[in-house]
Amino acid sequence: MTYQINLANIQGNILTGFNKDFQSFLFLTFTDTEEARRWLTDIIPEVATVEEVQAFKNLFKLVNKRRRGELGTVSSTWMNVAFTHSGFEALGVSGLDLDSFPEAFKAGMKARAAEIGDVGASDPEHWIAELGSKEIHALLIFASDSPIELRKYIMRHTTILESYQSIKIAFAQDGMDRADQPGHEHFGFRDGISQPGIRNFTTPQNPDNQDQGIPGQDLLHAGEFVLGYPTQIPQAKPDHDGPNSDPGENSQSGPTWTVDGSYLVLRRLRQDVPAFKRFVEHMAAKLGISKDLMGAKMVGRYASGAPLERTEKQPSYFTPPQHDPGLGDKSLLKDDNINNFEFGEDEEGKIVPRAAHIRKTYPRDQGGNDRESDTQTHRMLRRGIPFGSSYRPELANFYPNTEDRGLLFLAYQSDIERQFEFVQKLWVNNVNFPQPGDGEDPIMAQSPEGSFKLPLPGKGGGCPVHSLSIKHFVTTTGGEYFFQPSIEALQHLTK
Ligand code: HEM
Repeated sequence: MTYQINLANIQGNILTGFNKDFQSFLFLTFTDTEEARRWLTDIIPEVATVEEVQAFKNLFKLVNKRRRGELGTVSSTWMNVAFTHSGFEALGVSGLDLDSFPEAFKAGMKARAAEIGDVGASDPEHWIAELGSKEIHALLIFASDSPIELRKYIMRHTTILESYQSIKIAFAQDGMDRADQPGHEHFGFRDGISQPGIRNFTTPQNPDNQDQGIPGQDLLHAGEFVLGYPTQIPQAKPDHDGPNSDPGENSQSGPTWTVDGSYLVLRRLRQDVPAFKRFVEHMAAKLGISKDLMGAKMVGRYASGAPLERTEKQPSYFTPPQHDPGLGDKSLLKDDNINNFEFGEDEEGKIVPRAAHIRKTYPRDQGGNDRESDTQTHRMLRRGIPFGSSYRPELANFYPNTEDRGLLFLAYQSDIERQFEFVQKLWVNNVNFPQPGDGEDPIMAQSPEGSFKLPLPGKGGGCPVHSLSIKHFVTTTGGEYFFQPSIEALQHLTK
């Protein structure tokens, strides 16, 4: 089914992703409706759309291809804006419209803490003060290829903000790609590899399957991520293994003006890198495997991004660290392979443990009753970026080690409860998913002391299942649920 996505009306970070190395997030509070509306009127012409970001990406590709590499000749700086439920209230949205939003968005992330496992050290009472105690109304997202251009653009916007006395910056957070390991999060693994494909937007590139972008990347209906378009049907088609390709009902949530908008979940997740590295080293030594393989068992991918599920037949599977198959076999990093795998033939988790991060968060053909079709109703467009400096103990004498580093997790979806909250609560934090006793996601375990089941085939043919106690390596230090309206809706909100 072909339908047109209104790319000129949807904010740019949603479907395309700014995907810039330098980003910054300003959290705002309003106390005067008229001023907030005037400010919004002022900035709407600068809000980047999918159409613009996509056009830039095409130009970037074209220039790079002919000139053989990144010469820095084409660059851009973008801005997007999102609001919380109380932000809409502060903007003067009617009571009827406010009431029509879904419960999770109305409540906000703090109020949902117990639901999504933000307890103990992650309890909002321990969040950084500005995010834990203040009520946030709006979020400005800035992204650029250049740190200087980013600063200039933020300065321009803080100057605009200063002219509105009632609007305050409650908190500012920078995000930056790691200079020492570009594209990798702080534990050292390449991130941002697997994203859902979008029908009528992502180009089908698999000659054997027109329902995929790159091989293995299932194309989903746009309504999973943007309101007003067909959604996925959770039931499988008879006699068909893959995700149901038929269009489901159009996504709809809140007032009519939410069409072409998307819900944004933002989480500030602090990572305890030294503790993670110690754990991986200790367990690898104990189990007699390489550190690289141990890390890959926890994530489901090697640090390079190579999918563990595809490496089983590599001759070097059990060889010492210097022969890490994931790092060595570059072909696994190619578009044809990097996302092209399922877990169905590895039911026991002998290759990728069932609780490994990418298997918990996207079980592919293993989730729910109708498997692929069901799984595909719980997906998100992830737009995360690291914050804080890299953990480099050898430089500790020269640069202060602040320990406050982690991931700014950003994810777009059309239904927070069915997508982010479902994944966090019923998959990640659920010790009995996919199967009873599988344990917690070892990357993001939220309980203070969890455990994780790791089947490890030995050379002799046996496969003992190890139950490993895992520490809490990731702590939530702030977060919020936002809605990112269309350009037309932004205009509507100014009236
Ligand atoms: C500090 C916290 C986190 C770290 C270090 C982390 C790290 C990673 C890494 C290294 C990957 C593999 C790269 C890729 O496939 O793109 C990944 C994939 C993924 N993560 Fe996370 N992640 C974190 C938090 C989260 C959270 C909070 C969620 C959602 C609740 C999440 C959901 C996913 C999903 C859906 C995938 C893609 C799985 C796939 O499509 O195969 N992650 N993450």
